Amino acid sequence: MFWNNKRGIQVTNQRLGRLEKMTLKYALDLNKNSITLDLGGGNGYISWILTLFHHQVFYYDIKPNWRIKWLKKIFNFKKLKILKKDLKKINYSDLPKNIDLIYSARTLHYLNYENFEALLKKLESRLKKNGKIFITVTGVESEIGKKYPCAEKKIEERFCFLEKEYQERFEIKEKIFLMNFEEFQEIFKKYFILEEAWESDFKNLFFVGFKK
Ligand SMILES: C[S@@+](CC[C@H](N)C(=O)[O-])C[C@H]1O[C@@H](n2cnc3c(N)ncnc32)[C@H](O)[C@@H]1O
Repeated sequence: MFWNNKRGIQVTNQRLGRLEKMTLKYALDLNKNSITLDLGGGNGYISWILTLFHHQVFYYDIKPNWRIKWLKKIFNFKKLKILKKDLKKINYSDLPKNIDLIYSARTLHYLNYENFEALLKKLESRLKKNGKIFITVTGVESEIGKKYPCAEKKIEERFCFLEKEYQERFEIKEKIFLMNFEEFQEIFKKYFILEEAWESDFKNLFFVGFKK
């Protein structure tokens, strides 16, 4: 988390999990000017680090956070693009070609099944040969999934609000789409070569793959 006070902005104490470590390790070995995407970038800490690696970074968010906008402005980073986009409606023309790395954390469950799959398809087509994708989403068997009324619905129809109490507790006010590990794996493998996948103790889902 970064914060602003009279002394500046804190950018270092965001927790880096296993997926972030893998992403950044891979990113560090890429050439300068590699094309890297952060989908649903939030406060933008991954975009920020990728920018410091001299990549051409595409940060997408439906509501770009002031922190990343502020960092871009004060350092005048031309290679960091902050794109205010709804990932549900993204077009091929919104995506760069020859992408080296795609990262998305805790965001793609805001898309329904149809939009999620359509997005993976577009991403695959824009990913470079040997390009890599790193995704994590909340799983249906996680704590959040306990108050998810459409857990038993068919995957195509599974898109709904959490019960009120959990909407407040987890600050998720939108409809969401939650999957279990096998469901995610099946969709992911349609578009990418699966390199590694795991479920955390909290039943969140983590997938790493290559272009097919
Ligand atoms: C839980 S935050 C995760 C932020 C960051 N990736 C992280 O892990 O800290 C989810 C982010 O997704 C964004 N978001 C939600 N729905 C979206 C959509 N349809 N299109 C683009 N961004 C979206 C939100 O604005 C928010 O910044």
